[in-house]
Amino acid sequence: MKRKIIFATGNRNKMREIREILGGLDAEILSMNEAGIHLDIEENGTTFEENALIKARAAAKAANEIVLADDSGLEIDYLNKEPGVYSARYMGEDTSYEIKNQVLLERLSGVPKEQRTARFVCAVAAVFPEGEEIVKRGVIEGYIGEKPEGENGFGYDPIFYVEKYHCSTAALSREEKNAISHRGNALQAIRGELEKRI
Ligand code: IMP
Repeated sequence: MKRKIIFATGNRNKMREIREILGGLDAEILSMNEAGIHLDIEENGTTFEENALIKARAAAKAANEIVLADDSGLEIDYLNKEPGVYSARYMGEDTSYEIKNQVLLERLSGVPKEQRTARFVCAVAAVFPEGEEIVKRGVIEGYIGEKPEGENGFGYDPIFYVEKYHCSTAALSREEKNAISHRGNALQAIRGELEKRI
């Protein structure tokens, strides 16, 4: 029988990306919903790795399968790595990203490009029924632009620019972004570990 891998997220975009990247594995990939797990998990860790593990461990308690979870966010060097692990909660969960992005641009007003460096970080944790735990980190380096641009992506994409393309990640296609993204990198790394164990 095929092994099951449960991804501890309720986010449809993440599930699609995960299915694309882990697709070739000899395993059935399920969302928490599809696995019949309903949990409200408090992300109270201080690092991306801790939060990913908190989520994966909580879901693993409810299922005797391989469980994956991720945690991600934006680090802006000039702002002491804010919003960091608070990326989703920055200025409140209900504040629109149009406003969050505008406020971040204002906080960087007048700051030269060399000091506008930033990165998206993603940690993906895997917890196995036998108790083994693995965490992998993926990073994409970039800088905060002078203005928002692009219609794709989500969250902080419109203000996060990559040197390679001289545009924001919201101006890239889904394929272009997946190929270089923090989440893409972390999932590829986890995929390598899963291949050894399935
Ligand atoms: P979580 O990983 O679902 O807890 O959410 C992380 C938060 O970081 C998101 O709500 C976004 O604000 C931000 N974030 C993470 N990855 C990206 C990305 O690829 N583009 C834009 N924002 C991101």
